[in-house]
Amino acid sequence: TPDSAKSKATASFVVVANRLPVDRIEHPDGSVDWRTSPGGLVTAFEPVMRRHDGAWVGWHGAPDEELEPFDNDGLQLVPVPLAAQEIEDYYEGFSNGTLWPLYHDVIATPGFHREWWEAYVLVNQRFADRTAAVAEQGAVVWVQDYQLQLVPAMLRKLRPDLRIGFFLHIPFPPTELFQQLPWRDQILEGLLGADLVGFQVSGGAQNFLRLVRARLRQETHRDEIRTSDGRTVLARSYPIAIDAKELNDLAASEPVATRAAEIRHDLGDPDVLFLGVDRLDYTKGLLARLEAFGELIEDGTLDVEKVAFVQVATPSRERVEEYRQLRDEMDRLVGRINGDIGRIGRPPITYLHASYPRDEMAALYRAADVMVVTPLRDGMNLVAKEYVACRQADDGALVLSEFAGAARELRQAYLVNPYDVNGMKDKLIEAMNDSARNKARRMKVMRRQVAEHDIDHWASAFLDDLGRTGPHA
Ligand code: ADP
Ligand code: G6P
Repeated sequence: TPDSAKSKATASFVVVANRLPVDRIEHPDGSVDWRTSPGGLVTAFEPVMRRHDGAWVGWHGAPDEELEPFDNDGLQLVPVPLAAQEIEDYYEGFSNGTLWPLYHDVIATPGFHREWWEAYVLVNQRFADRTAAVAEQGAVVWVQDYQLQLVPAMLRKLRPDLRIGFFLHIPFPPTELFQQLPWRDQILEGLLGADLVGFQVSGGAQNFLRLVRARLRQETHRDEIRTSDGRTVLARSYPIAIDAKELNDLAASEPVATRAAEIRHDLGDPDVLFLGVDRLDYTKGLLARLEAFGELIEDGTLDVEKVAFVQVATPSRERVEEYRQLRDEMDRLVGRINGDIGRIGRPPITYLHASYPRDEMAALYRAADVMVVTPLRDGMNLVAKEYVACRQADDGALVLSEFAGAARELRQAYLVNPYDVNGMKDKLIEAMNDSARNKARRMKVMRRQVAEHDIDHWASAFLDDLGRTGPHA
């Protein structure tokens, strides 16, 4: 719960994200709770902010409320209000109905609506104004993700003294897809307001550089852009990471070990436990994954008495139509599979709509023999890295989609094409049946990668580069 203490007025390091790390929840009886916000951005940034003294500017997740800046658990939080209509048009509309599907390979069809765009411009300006009021002279400002792509240029206009970084947590799309966007040039210009624009993988940075050359006629040299106003902007990739040590230690702890054993016991001590952990999002490839598992039981490859699949899927963006549809389809699919092939006390799939604390997540990762991460497209996917960080005994197997950014680093995973259901079935079996020796060999390499390239490493790489750019260089 937030301290009532009022926050300091300004900061020399400011992170700007659509969401604050906590959501304000108002109960029907009028009482108020704060809950950890969903998603990988918050997971990754919490530890960064704990190690850098700074302010976090963002929305607190509820409509129509103006809140004063406050300190929460040592973090200096600066709330940006959103009206109910703005949540509809800026957040559910342009951010999650236009940009999210467009940037994820149009898995769903993006909507292009002028009133959504207008709200996006207006809300981005509010974030820029709020940030300009909080940042000290010469401060470092780090703007996050697709919801705020106009903020860098807006902020530079207000505060040319600032050093501005931008990081995109989701994929930056192929140029042909990006160019569908009626407001493509405005977005590119918005991003160019930053001194450093960061992407998850080098392909994203390349797409951006190509677009800047082709559409805005700016000169580029390798990863540098010369803007028409005489600045140099860098575009590079920085694959985001996790606090690997913290999670490793948590997973190794006695209570988590006990809880992991308890989970397996409660599931009827299966020989093999499969696990999926995702936001309930159509990019995550949930349906095909469960279909593949169901078919393996149906066709007799797996024995329903001996295996179990736990799928944790936190409901997300529930007022956006595609998300509602996915939720219904998942209910139907899980119901059908469990109804058709389950036995008393043995539902093949345990499906949970829950948001768990970190120690329960660690216990789930520790309990699982095969972690199944099969997004159709994902900027990075932290769940894959979290699983690896929890496997201290070098056992367990990670089945991972080629289309997750994490696949670039975790080459020793059992890589799959999530559009290929038969291929996925084969890979699940291969991962399950591989020898302990092979599993350990693969896991060791992945664990080293995750331990060495952790979130501190990521933040320093970005901030060091940012420190060398801009007017102060
Ligand atoms: P995304 O950012 O698209 O949601 P990531 O895999 O990158 O996907 O990050 C998801 C983050 O949310 C991870 O840190 C994961 O541990 C956390 N998470 C996902 N589902 C749950 C859940 N049910 N309860 C608690 N944390 C969850
Ligand atoms: C992804 C995005 C984040 C977003 C998170 C949760 O990780 O990259 O920007 O915050 O999903 O989604 P939500 O819409 O609930 O903020």
